Amino acid sequence: MPQKIIIDTDPGVDDTIAITTALRSPELEVLGLTSIFGNAVTETTTQNALRLVELEGHDSIPVARGSEVPLLMELEGIASDVHGRDGMGNTNLPAPKGKPIEKSAAEFIIDTVRAYPGEVILAPVGPLTNIALALEIDPGIASLIKKIVLMGGTVSVAGNISPVAEANIYHDAHAADIVMQASCPVVMVGLDVTEQVIMTPQYFEELFEAENPATNLIKRILPVYQEYHDRFRGMGGSTHTHDPSAIAYLIDPDLFKTQSVPVFVETQGHCKGKTTADWHRQWESRVDTEVCMEVNSSGVLDLIKERLAK
Ligand code: BDR
Ligand code: CA
Repeated sequence: MPQKIIIDTDPGVDDTIAITTALRSPELEVLGLTSIFGNAVTETTTQNALRLVELEGHDSIPVARGSEVPLLMELEGIASDVHGRDGMGNTNLPAPKGKPIEKSAAEFIIDTVRAYPGEVILAPVGPLTNIALALEIDPGIASLIKKIVLMGGTVSVAGNISPVAEANIYHDAHAADIVMQASCPVVMVGLDVTEQVIMTPQYFEELFEAENPATNLIKRILPVYQEYHDRFRGMGGSTHTHDPSAIAYLIDPDLFKTQSVPVFVETQGHCKGKTTADWHRQWESRVDTEVCMEVNSSGVLDLIKERLAK
């Protein structure tokens, strides 16, 4: 039986790789996409989510529009220098045919979790506002969510949007702190592992040989993302593998080693968005998060290539 998932997303170049991988994986049943700001504003990421379900004929998968602003903080740091102004590498793609459903992202999450109690995995690969809103509006869903597998945070390496913060957590630190206290199992796929999974120019070349709609789109939108990694991290055409690593975890968790630890999120000042693992349990008691600390990088890369190139 495939695992039922909702991908909460801000597409986004790596979101695109993640979503197309998920849609091509028989282990996963994508029940819907919910949109959020981050790599672009929510209006834009909603359009991109629609484009992605339409790309290879998955138009029946609903897209629910998410929040336009964080829970409490100002919206800042939209990543147009990383993913392009349109979130799709400045390729100005044609408008999608479909429209988002009437329900908001939070409503869709609540209704879907209640329709399949104990079965739905939430897979947020953007800021956590929609997930936190759903948990706040209907706290009862926490015990009905099978698991939350999120891409975000770091407990052992430097941040990527600030010296200490990973971008998804930084964009709505209050929401992230709510999610880190949820009573359902939470798995954090953060920079600790996603920066160890490197897609090289040769890897991309091999991927693009498939010449299917997914790989052709990735080829078009990739250059801006490669330029950012080169400018900021001197990677010469290689990129980190953030959101696709979370999808790889969902397909094959054995590719990762996790440690169980309470995670706290700083919500203000220079350290806004910093995720701290309380390894020695010195702060107040809080449920544990399963933090991915080690990854079989070649295993993740092979899995993604196998799914995208078929
Ligand atoms: C995360 O931030 C976004 O730029 C990516 O899509 C990913 O979700 C990495 O920090
Ligand atoms: Ca993302």
